Amino acid sequence: MYKIGVMPGDGTGPEVVREALKVLESVSEVENFKYELTHYDFGGDRYIATGEVLPDSAIDEFRLQDVILLGAIGHPDVKPGILEKGILLRTRFELDQYINLRPVKLYPGVYTPIKDKGPDEIDFVVVRENTEGLYAGAGGFLKKGTADEVAVQESINTRKGVERCIRFAFEYTRERNMRKNLTLCGKTNVLTYAFDLWERAFNEVATEYADVTTDYAHVDAICMWFVKNPEWFDVIVTDNMFGDIITDLGAMIQGGMGIAAGGNINPEGVSMFEPIGGSAPKYTGMNIINPLAAISALQLLLENLGEKAAGARIEKAVITMTGEKLKGLAAGKMGYSTSEVGDMVAELVKR
Ligand code: IPM
Ligand code: MN
Repeated sequence: MYKIGVMPGDGTGPEVVREALKVLESVSEVENFKYELTHYDFGGDRYIATGEVLPDSAIDEFRLQDVILLGAIGHPDVKPGILEKGILLRTRFELDQYINLRPVKLYPGVYTPIKDKGPDEIDFVVVRENTEGLYAGAGGFLKKGTADEVAVQESINTRKGVERCIRFAFEYTRERNMRKNLTLCGKTNVLTYAFDLWERAFNEVATEYADVTTDYAHVDAICMWFVKNPEWFDVIVTDNMFGDIITDLGAMIQGGMGIAAGGNINPEGVSMFEPIGGSAPKYTGMNIINPLAAISALQLLLENLGEKAAGARIEKAVITMTGEKLKGLAAGKMGYSTSEVGDMVAELVKR
């Protein structure tokens, strides 16, 4: 019996999570596993109504789950940062979800803005460090609001935090068993402290993985190559900020926010999976948003629980949808409504 926490969140989050849960019900029947859902209503509406972002008791409850499915966080009537930091980043930090895993895979039938590249060329995974770097919140103001104001925002890179992320990336590359190549993405030519530590840790851990080849690329060059030669990449490991940026580029080349999913993973604890597209307030309640990203997040969640066959069924169904059924992936352009797409996938996973 899996304990699954469900946090639909804001905007279109609840709509896409509803479809993912339909698929969960359907795939659990064919693959014979049981689960128990606990719903959490944290998000913008609750914050506006009660002033509460995420109580400490919620974090304690999250710890009792096996996994969490998140919809989206971000509300047009709430100042940016409050919900993102208070819910998403706080959960990542408190549950020590130190890996942000982002597969970038172009499915058949999906439009990519990269000319002459297809599913054979776009299939890689970014392993982003998820609890340190510029996201650690280190720094502060001096003389705030004056002409002499100073703002400092420091990147925190601990040997322990960096090494565990790199180690995860090597293990993941080995297990993925594709080209077995791991690329370190950094900026060793300028950030000569942070990425010196990263590079040393990377090279040291590499000696334990003789079956995995390695290379290195600066983050700016990676942005060029994602567009020009995405086929060069198998698995990429990088810090929190660079990972944030390059995975949005990755999402675009795999077909956009309608399909991009990711996981906030604590390999020894409770992980949280999410469609990365955000709350899309302008489409809220219209039944036109694409639920495939949330459904793919469910796939990652089930794989994390060890339900590999269920994950494979979902991926196959998603490929059938993109390759044979949907007109497009963007909201309102699918040729079907949100709930119809969910119904279709729930049916397809049984075949
Ligand atoms: C992401 C998002 C978050 C991040 C925001 C919403 C805080 O952009 O998951 O990539 O920057 O990590
Ligand atoms: Mn981001």
